[in-house]
Amino acid sequence: MKSMLSALLFSAATAILPITLSAQATSYPDKPPLLLGAAWYPEQWPESRWDADLSLMEAAHINLVRVGEFAWSTMEPAENQYNFAWLDRAIALAAKHHICVVLGTPTAAPPAWLTAKYPDTLRVDENGVRDEHGNRQQFSFASTRYRQFAHDIAEKMAERYGHNPNVVGWQLDNEYAAPSFDPEAKAQFHAWLKKKYGTIENLNQHWTTAYWSQTYDNFDEIPVRQEGENPGLLLDWKHFVSDTWKSYSENQISAIRPHADKRQFITTNTMGWFDGFDEYVVHSVLDIAAWDDYVGSQYDYIDNGARHDLARGFKNKNFWVMETQPAFVNWRPVNAAIDRGQVRDMAWQAIGHGAEAVEYWQWRSALNGQEQYHGTLVGADGTPVPVYDEVKQVGEEFEKVGQALAGTAPQSAVALINDYDSRWAINFQRHNRNFDPVAEMLAFYTPLRNQAQAVDVISVRAPLDKYKLVVAPGLNVLPQDVAAHLLAYVKQGGNLVLGPRSGMKDEYNALHIERQPGPLVDALGGRVEQFYALDNAVPVNGELGSGTASLWAEQLSTKSPDTHVLLSYGPSNGWLDNQPAVITRKVGKGSITYVGAWLDAALLAKLTSSLLEQSGVRPVLQNVPEGVEVCQRTGAGKSVLVLINHNQTAAHVDLPQAMTDLLDSSHVRRTSVDLPKYGVAVLEM
Ligand code: GAL
Repeated sequence: MKSMLSALLFSAATAILPITLSAQATSYPDKPPLLLGAAWYPEQWPESRWDADLSLMEAAHINLVRVGEFAWSTMEPAENQYNFAWLDRAIALAAKHHICVVLGTPTAAPPAWLTAKYPDTLRVDENGVRDEHGNRQQFSFASTRYRQFAHDIAEKMAERYGHNPNVVGWQLDNEYAAPSFDPEAKAQFHAWLKKKYGTIENLNQHWTTAYWSQTYDNFDEIPVRQEGENPGLLLDWKHFVSDTWKSYSENQISAIRPHADKRQFITTNTMGWFDGFDEYVVHSVLDIAAWDDYVGSQYDYIDNGARHDLARGFKNKNFWVMETQPAFVNWRPVNAAIDRGQVRDMAWQAIGHGAEAVEYWQWRSALNGQEQYHGTLVGADGTPVPVYDEVKQVGEEFEKVGQALAGTAPQSAVALINDYDSRWAINFQRHNRNFDPVAEMLAFYTPLRNQAQAVDVISVRAPLDKYKLVVAPGLNVLPQDVAAHLLAYVKQGGNLVLGPRSGMKDEYNALHIERQPGPLVDALGGRVEQFYALDNAVPVNGELGSGTASLWAEQLSTKSPDTHVLLSYGPSNGWLDNQPAVITRKVGKGSITYVGAWLDAALLAKLTSSLLEQSGVRPVLQNVPEGVEVCQRTGAGKSVLVLINHNQTAAHVDLPQAMTDLLDSSHVRRTSVDLPKYGVAVLEM
């Protein structure tokens, strides 16, 4: 099964994603279209308590629990001695309360007997220190022995629950994160390099190891580090880590899939902007994307919306919020709660951006254990805490409007590129310590989202044909095949925007022998003459207005008479004075624009507004007050708007036509809506 799977699986490192992907809704025919859930840990409680918990959940319209992801020591208390009777009963009791189940494989928390008897399964950090029992994620993701145990426990679970009608899907492990530097992982990295490069000479050439006498005589000599090394090694390590998490997933998928109904999805829960591995590589073997939406104490709705869009882009279809906070967490320096009303606001934002399930972590705190202070829905006494009522309101609302949203998904004419290779390459050598690639993506995302009201965040290798505008904020690594993919998009009439630092490196993280943007210099009819890290802001002006650049400025030049300068630098360090900062050129029916500077928010907003207009992208609603988010989901012949007032004051929104207010029980038709502080409206067009 495993080899068949891997043969079918797509290798994101070398290919453009297949064309079959298009934005779509996911659906579970036997389940409500919108699910509201909680992480429930029955193994932490006496069974006599379960019915009370499930009754309270049912009363809050919770119809989903995630169970099992840390329960290995309860499922397999001793090697090869299994105990699933409790889980059978927990799932059956949940079903009685009309609550369906996502089963977590428990591999993020191996039992003590396992790691005591087989210490080679424990993770080793970069400095050679082996982990120990007592926390979680203490396993080595590369350990053959650990994978065998993981396979066995996943298989045992699948044999038992793969046809259970109340189990809707599987979560593999929990929040893949730290790689291991144990001897087995190192040997696998060396073998991986050998497979990739064939000969050591080939590797030496691509990594330019003549530099500092790094030349290797064989693969075993290569150090295994994630910092301070040759950029070629660092990028390959990240690719190896991505492939290893992918095969870690395949190992468990090969245990579950043969025993599980097709309707049961297999996913894992991810962490927003986390860049420990390439999410597109790992998601190539998963059925749906699911992520854990934590904002800590500060709900920045733009950043959070971008992270939803990122998760949607992992499979280019609707996704799940597998965990979110019931007001507060326990892992910030100050764990302030978000305001009353914002928990509901966040739930609706998730739905607006394409979530089909929102699950709270967690139902109730274990009486002991590391997370006693985390937000919950019930207290230590087992009765509701204040946020329970807000979640209950969300549950009532999901029930009301679920049917109207069934089969719908967000659609966007604008794509923002999220490229892990480029993010890693920049982070390895920021050159300006404040140049954070995610902050740069958000700098572009913010005006695009505000102005177009819909943005997809996708891999640079995804199909681009449906987009009118594609923005790659810092496409530092630009291999030839990706450049060809982008150029084909432009020639078909697409509008491509490259941000600062684009087109500098090839897929080995080596410098292109052309100036930036490397393989796209000819198409752009211009190039980067020199890049400058900035410690002071530099004036920028031109036909779009005036403003500043900070952090980064590239001195551009035009080589072609039809390449047009949109913005130039004012007097600054002499090198940049009066030099082009933003240039653009029509290519075929499309265009390429190169933005060489990190522009201030107001000037960037003017630029994106002009790019959107030129690309023919219109917002869903005009004249929406600041802080009111417009989300549209369409499909199955329906079009539904979710309006969210993230402001602390009321807001009024005029609608272009009469729409049905789905949250209003009498389904009143409205031509405008008044949204209170943190208010939400769901309207059918
Ligand atoms: C998540 C994790 C959960 C819980 C939660 C607390 O990262 O998956 O198990 O620890 O954080 O916020």
